[in-house]
Amino acid sequence: MEKKNIDWANLGFGYRVTDVRYVSNYRNDAWDEGVLTGDATIQLNECAGILQYCQEIFEGLKAYTTEDGRIVTFRPDLNAERMADSARRLEMPPFPKERFLDAIDKVVTANAAWVPPYGSGATLYIRPYMFASSPVIGVKPAEEYQFRVFVTPVGPYFKGGAKPLTLCVSDFDRAAPHGTGHIKAGLNYAMSLHAGVTAHANGFDENLFLDPATRTYVEETGGANFLFVDKNGTIITPKSESILPSITRRSLVTVARDILGLEVQERPVKLEELKDFAECGLCGTAAVISPVGKVVDHGRDICFASGMEEMGPVIKKLYDTLTGIQMGRVDGPEGWVRTIL
Ligand SMILES: Cc1ncc(COP(=O)(O)O)c(C=O)c1O
Repeated sequence: MEKKNIDWANLGFGYRVTDVRYVSNYRNDAWDEGVLTGDATIQLNECAGILQYCQEIFEGLKAYTTEDGRIVTFRPDLNAERMADSARRLEMPPFPKERFLDAIDKVVTANAAWVPPYGSGATLYIRPYMFASSPVIGVKPAEEYQFRVFVTPVGPYFKGGAKPLTLCVSDFDRAAPHGTGHIKAGLNYAMSLHAGVTAHANGFDENLFLDPATRTYVEETGGANFLFVDKNGTIITPKSESILPSITRRSLVTVARDILGLEVQERPVKLEELKDFAECGLCGTAAVISPVGKVVDHGRDICFASGMEEMGPVIKKLYDTLTGIQMGRVDGPEGWVRTIL
């Protein structure tokens, strides 16, 4: 199949309209059969629930080409489950898991020419999302919803190597205790924009958000979970009810325990402990793991032993193993890689 004529290695992380997307509508208490369409626009009533009360959820995953030329996705079943959890929390009708997986397969297949080749570093980003499409003026759940999936090619996350990031401890909270921090709802990201713009304006790459109740425990950044390595090589990752259950972080925990034989602790992590850790990374679909070199807490620098030049050795091993599984170079647990084409 002929690929699109794109300079894959120099693609950024931006939206580019592709050929086909999937749409299914929920009306009269049921999802319709769904269609693929070439129309990238949406027409909505001015009073649609998404526009008035922000009833929207989404997911993010990738399709890519493996070493042996297959087009695959990584653990899309977990995206389906997390999206169903998000739907229940926002009083929306979950989209059935098998149909979610089928919709992704169909959109990726129809846009196969947009899936970057193996070795380019680029991937096809997949964005499933769902929103309230019928009018609501009193505050309540809408009666009608639309589920859609589009794809867009994105460039390599680390152009010219993974340089460690500098984070700042944020004065803003990302999520409330017993709020919506554990689901993937657009409203969480709207809330984080001001904190993100402020951090960038102050010269930081990302925010480190603390637990909003006591402001003593590490939660996550605006778009990734934390993973630390202590001086004994033990992996430590924060446990909290108000962080997003990252699929990358959960996969890395399995890789660390079952493949690399490392000790892993999933527990609340105090900000005060960070100075004792040797390595720090951010886990998410976008980069798998981004190394962190330094956290700045109101003028106090907390530096990790791995430094500001390269990934620490344990994080590098985790990164190489998980990306090896994803790209078909390393055998991983049964069912992690779903072959589409
Ligand atoms: C707030 C937040 N935390 C963590 C993650 C990482 O999750 P995943 O590994 O499933 O991409 C994301 C990205 O989806 C996110 O938005």
